[in-house]
Amino acid sequence: MKKVGIIGVGEYLPEKILTNADLEKMVDTSDEWITTRTGIKERHLAAPGEASSDLAFKASVQALNNAKIKPEELELIIVATITGDMSFPSVSAILQNKLQAKKAVCFDISAACAGFVYGLSVAQQFISCGTYKNALVIGSEVLSSITDWQDRNTCVLFGDGAGAAVLSEVKSGGIISTYLGCDGSKAGILNLPAGGSRNPATHETVEKRMHFLKMQGNELFKIAVNTMTQAAETVLKQAGLTFSDVDLIIPHQANRRIIMAVAKKLGIPEERVYLNIERCGNMSSASTVTALCEAVQEGKVKKGDIILLDAFGAGLVWGACVIEW
Ligand code: UT7
Repeated sequence: MKKVGIIGVGEYLPEKILTNADLEKMVDTSDEWITTRTGIKERHLAAPGEASSDLAFKASVQALNNAKIKPEELELIIVATITGDMSFPSVSAILQNKLQAKKAVCFDISAACAGFVYGLSVAQQFISCGTYKNALVIGSEVLSSITDWQDRNTCVLFGDGAGAAVLSEVKSGGIISTYLGCDGSKAGILNLPAGGSRNPATHETVEKRMHFLKMQGNELFKIAVNTMTQAAETVLKQAGLTFSDVDLIIPHQANRRIIMAVAKKLGIPEERVYLNIERCGNMSSASTVTALCEAVQEGKVKKGDIILLDAFGAGLVWGACVIEW
């Protein structure tokens, strides 16, 4: 089996920034509540008409340049998203055309906030067994398009953005271990009720605001802490490593309190946890990959470092990955 690593990363965050002060004018909330309960100060919002493939394209161009790979060298594109441009075709097919990556096989993954880690794992299999040489894995979301801007329980939490990673065979290091999981019995805790085959769009679904994301946040909180802790423990054990070997943990950015509770349980000090939640909010599949990209760009990830990605989201799904950079 070939060793597979990330050889380039990129991100794109839309220009518009929505601050907690802006939200105070929209719903009954306060900067104090949002900051202390979530750790979020601001989030980026896509412009009207800007879709997931537009964000994915910009992040991908940066990642390909960073990896020094041309689009025509790509054989696989996987986009993790829950906010595709439309129900079909896939964002990855639309992106393939934008990039002119004509040789690439393309499909999307619906694994919510764990989508990027799921995508990494799938791409790794294709490359390690020799089916494809270069793959592009993206997390891209325009969550503002499914956010109920009248619901203070959810609208303060989410943001838009995209991150991309180019995967290829590497001589040393690379992905050491991945661990994925799912518990479909709790699918009702976080979902978007209408617009699919269960509740196709009608005047009634629109009037009942069923085309917006619904979340039982409080219930998710405890499950998120326990599941992310368990996923991190499992993937590290599989890798034959311990928490003292981890140079940086890059978790899904749903809530600063969740992340810090997980770090505490794992015995990982705060300075070894990467956060972009304060500036970006929760961007679902785009959170872990943009955080990874920023950590690399800021020089917080150096060659030989052990990094741990740890994500959890709607499904419920989870995924963790240990990488030697
Ligand atoms: O990314 C995928 C996975 N997602 C998650 O893992 C999210 C997990 N959940 C969370 O991060 C947190 O549960 C939230 C941030 C969503 C909520 O924080 P919480 O500490 O669990 O608050 P809560 O839902 O228990 O609500 C506490 C109070 C309620 O008021 P009462 O009933 O106690 O009077 C809410 O109505 O806070 C109220 N509240 C707000 N107040 C001001 C809820 N949202 C707001 C708000 N501003 N935006």
